[in-house]
Amino acid sequence: MNPATGPIKAWIFDLDGVIVSTDEYHYLGWKRLADEEGVDFDRHVNERLRGVSRMESLGILLEKSPRAYTSDEKTALATRKNGYYKELLLTRLRPEDILPGVLSLLRQLRVRGIKLAIGSSSRNSPTILERIGLAGYFDAEADGNHITRSKPDPEVFLLAARKLGLQPADCLVVEDAAAGVEAAVAGGMPVLAVGSAGSDPRATLRAADLQLVARLF
Ligand code: BG6
Ligand code: MG
Repeated sequence: MNPATGPIKAWIFDLDGVIVSTDEYHYLGWKRLADEEGVDFDRHVNERLRGVSRMESLGILLEKSPRAYTSDEKTALATRKNGYYKELLLTRLRPEDILPGVLSLLRQLRVRGIKLAIGSSSRNSPTILERIGLAGYFDAEADGNHITRSKPDPEVFLLAARKLGLQPADCLVVEDAAAGVEAAVAGGMPVLAVGSAGSDPRATLRAADLQLVARLF
């Protein structure tokens, strides 16, 4: 059977904003850094940081900076933000923060023999999965520690498919970021867009959230 028209064999989930609402903690970490540096930063700009790497996120945040930073200073700023972010992960993140419908959906997919994977740009992905009680749950994990090019490059999703032993076209990507939708399309994978990306015209499927999707099964 042509893999592009065969059944979906795996779902590859983005993590931040899809499985768990850590996207809010990313925002709070960047906001604290921006306030300290006197840089204008709001939720509108924050939308552009979804799915992109830590250093690329910093580059977007600094577009409105009144001063220039050296490369070493930028590394220090990114490290500082990551410290703020990790503090929030370690003090606030609980299994209860898994987004509505996610656990039900994961269980139903498992029952149907669908493989499950993570495809996240985050280097904090293992910590997050551990904090929410999903460490070791997925059949494959690809994250920011394993890739050199962040979304919208498809590298992380192609790696997840490879780790599952499947063709990209047999894997459905679930994304809440424009950069992630673009990455899936570039990788030749169908994509279900939810949340902030829920009306992205490039997506194969669109839904407000995964609670709704879980109810379809
Ligand atoms: C993505 C987030 O999942 O991970 C981005 O959507 C974030 O906002 C990126 O910049 C990198 O995360 P981390 O945890 O490695 O700084
Ligand atoms: Mg996301």
